[in-house]
Amino acid sequence: MAAVLRPVTIENPADMRSWSRAARSSGRSIALVATMGALHDGHLALIEHARSRADAVVVSIFVNPLQFGENHDFTNYPRPIDTDLAACERAEVAAVYAPTAAAMYPRGFETRVVPGRLASTMEGHSRPGHFEGVTTVVTKLLAAVGPDLAVFGEKDYQQLAIIRRMVSDLDLGVDIVAAPTVREPDGLALSSRNQRLTPAQRRAAVCIPRSIAEAREVAARPDATLDAILARVRHVIDDEPQASLDYVSVFDAGTLEAIDDLDDPMRVAGRCRIAIAARVGDVRLIDNADLYDR
Ligand code: PAF
Repeated sequence: MAAVLRPVTIENPADMRSWSRAARSSGRSIALVATMGALHDGHLALIEHARSRADAVVVSIFVNPLQFGENHDFTNYPRPIDTDLAACERAEVAAVYAPTAAAMYPRGFETRVVPGRLASTMEGHSRPGHFEGVTTVVTKLLAAVGPDLAVFGEKDYQQLAIIRRMVSDLDLGVDIVAAPTVREPDGLALSSRNQRLTPAQRRAAVCIPRSIAEAREVAARPDATLDAILARVRHVIDDEPQASLDYVSVFDAGTLEAIDDLDDPMRVAGRCRIAIAARVGDVRLIDNADLYDR
């Protein structure tokens, strides 16, 4: 049996760059999977995607303070680093880039990457500054790792669209690969935040994928109106006493702009998506899906 090699753990950008330089000079291509740790099967699916496309996978683990709002869950965010390193080892990750906050944001740090209109709706509207934190840290991760490609999940569809735009606008020269959302058997999208749900909240959280599934059923009817689709989501979430809706949006899959009229050309797979954000207890969860793809 081939020996499983422990991934090297790297804690600062300079060491990360030297590792990547050495990997590239030995002819290996590199894929980055950027994470905030608390790795679950969704992350492992991203790693698998990456492994099938590159010779060496780098997983970054960094809970990025810049993308959390004032009163949000930065301090509560799970940080099970030993379990994460063991998961990376089992997944045959070549290197784990786990920089310290001081290495990422040393004294005097003041530059930001500011996203444009794609960041103004949905999560951007509910969490001001969030995407600026994401684009800034992802730029730094790409600069340190220098990957050929980076894999991001469709669960964070808006993040994926913003990162694609940024990579194109700033000529960052890395392929952004999308990976489909991984779900629990009852439909709940995997998320590190699910760990913070009590068992009762976990049962309640299924209202989120259920609301999307029911919205898609309504959308499939020839006479479906946008109001009927949105009303169905509100109804399913309102029916669950432990959940409260932050937003629901039916939006153009390319521009992310809210759709106000579901005319015929939009009623095809790939043109529009539905996204929701809801709180279950104090845990904020998001999900999205194509409105028409079967
Ligand atoms: O999706 C995430 O986990 C984070 O937003 C990311 C891309 C790792 C940046 O911190």
